Amino acid sequence: MTRAAVLAGVGGYVPPRVVTNEELSRRLDTSDAWIRTRTGIAARHVVDPGTSTGDLAVEAGGRALKNAGADGADLVIVATTTPDRPCPATAPTVAARLGLTDVPAYDVAAVCSGFVYALQAGAAAVTSGFAERALVVGAESFSTILDPTDRTTSVIFGDGAGAVLLRAGERTEPGAVLDVHLGSDGSMADLITVRGGGAEERSRGGTPRPEDRYFRMDGKSVFFAAVRRMAESSRTVLARTGWEVADVDRLVGHQANTRIIQAVAEQLGLPPERAVLNIERVGNTSAASIPLALADGLADGTLVAGDRVLLTAFGGGATWGSATLVWPDLPIG
Ligand code: COA
Repeated sequence: MTRAAVLAGVGGYVPPRVVTNEELSRRLDTSDAWIRTRTGIAARHVVDPGTSTGDLAVEAGGRALKNAGADGADLVIVATTTPDRPCPATAPTVAARLGLTDVPAYDVAAVCSGFVYALQAGAAAVTSGFAERALVVGAESFSTILDPTDRTTSVIFGDGAGAVLLRAGERTEPGAVLDVHLGSDGSMADLITVRGGGAEERSRGGTPRPEDRYFRMDGKSVFFAAVRRMAESSRTVLARTGWEVADVDRLVGHQANTRIIQAVAEQLGLPPERAVLNIERVGNTSAASIPLALADGLADGTLVAGDRVLLTAFGGGATWGSATLVWPDLPIG
């Protein structure tokens, strides 16, 4: 018997306010047709003033615990690009608000790959015996770092959170995290960045430039790197798991852009209808994207027990990663 981390519950949460493409078209030089055709996005959810990442993480984390029938966890990891504060990390507060005041809790910063990175950390902690139950959350209030005048980013990103509870179990059980592959290439750090607010800016001195507070992305370069790295990483994790591409029932790709997910499927030789997609309704929610797609896929019946599932993501850093598991029989929250 080989100890493993097993998926025991999933939860998702998006803030109530919906921003449609039409609404964006009224303040930016863009159109519903452009956004839909180029990205597959029709709407995204955005936090109201006063709501932030921690609030979304608590909602999603609480739902994952409830859906798993669990009264707590002994490890909490929050993947986010938009922490509530630069210091301290968001995870300890999220844990405390979930009633967990004596557990290890930390943030993971890998932008849109954040959830897969955090999943690896949570799964390794459970597999090694360090933790019995790990709550792994991806949460973003991305709207707080977008330049409202930048049409290239404002149309893509949205806010939300998703979470999974991993419990100790056996590798042969459905839901066991079978394998994870991660990678990074820091020479691509400038492709996706918020330049200001960190030590670089402060150590330079002088007056911070307001525009450096905003998220910037070289969309075209990111597009090609994302397709290449997600496809490569997927092949690597499939080989480690001993699965052929044809064995994959569901591809849960980071919901960056429908065209990116379709291109990854095409490069792998996977029929595009095997992709789980919720991007049309939520946009790109960065670290929240994969767990939110899992929660939505479970709720709408796209993910069913026994499905062989491949997760894959690419994000700032640049970072990327993929994971495999067989979907377990989970209650719909
Ligand atoms: N509305 C209308 N036109 C827009 C626009 C918008 N919101 N954003 C860009 N354009 C324009 C550009 O200015 C350009 O005009 P030009 O040809 O006159 O110069 C034209 O549309 C094409 O721009 P381009 O950047 O080539 O479009 P694209 O097909 O590459 O799509 C992205 C742009 C951003 C949607 C795409 O590159 C992308 O999805 N990249 C990855 C983004 C991502 O998911 N990042 C997260 C981390 S993985």
